[in-house]
Amino acid sequence: MPKIIVAIDGYSSCGKSTLARALASQMGYAYIDSGAMYRCVTLYALQQGMIKDKVFLDEEIISILPDVHISFQFNAHSKTSDTYLNDVNVERQIRSLEVAEIVSKVSIVKEVRTHLVALQRKMGKGKGIVMDGRDIGTNVFPHAELKIFMTADMDVRIDRRLDELTSKGMHVDREDVKRNLLQRDHDDTHRKENPLIKAVDAVLLDNSELTREEQLEFVVKLIHDLTLTKDAF
Ligand code: DC
Repeated sequence: MPKIIVAIDGYSSCGKSTLARALASQMGYAYIDSGAMYRCVTLYALQQGMIKDKVFLDEEIISILPDVHISFQFNAHSKTSDTYLNDVNVERQIRSLEVAEIVSKVSIVKEVRTHLVALQRKMGKGKGIVMDGRDIGTNVFPHAELKIFMTADMDVRIDRRLDELTSKGMHVDREDVKRNLLQRDHDDTHRKENPLIKAVDAVLLDNSELTREEQLEFVVKLIHDLTLTKDAF
């Protein structure tokens, strides 16, 4: 079966990465969490003391880009890939509320996007990749063979984010999580550079009432149907 690029976009905490990881594992593809890359830039800027009270200077963030080296390494224990920033595993740190509260603002900076999009395109060169984010089907891989746009009810999304944080030993208030998700939806859909929108040729997947298995089955079937259509490649 020819290898393809699967682009998964959608709102925060819709289960994009859960589906993308499962799909990559099933297909024997690489999984790239593009949001983790924006989170790494944000974490590094925080570590350098460049963000104070959620305020930063674009020039300072742009100046650190050459020092931010991001990689993904398979974790045999969790059976998924972890994010490394300058060779340090930052999987837990990049999910903190501190990073979540400012990452959308950092991702608005044009030079940050240009830098990370170039890296993402390099990662997709050999195909056989599942990448999730906000602009993958519209901007990073506009010619991806399969594009999925995910959405889910707000309450379901809050529950999922709370579960994710709790499973990582972090305890946060439900209202704080809701506020953060609403703010990020607004930032992601209203920014000037490559805002979150559904690509015209993306398949809409509302997974509010679907199990993980049902979502995986749905997408695997789409891939099988696609590979039967020769002109998809
Ligand atoms: O998927 P996530 O919640 O980890 O993403 C974190 C932030 O990064 C999100 O608020 C918006 C930004 N992002 C982006 O602008 N473009 C992407 N392709 C992925 C994420």
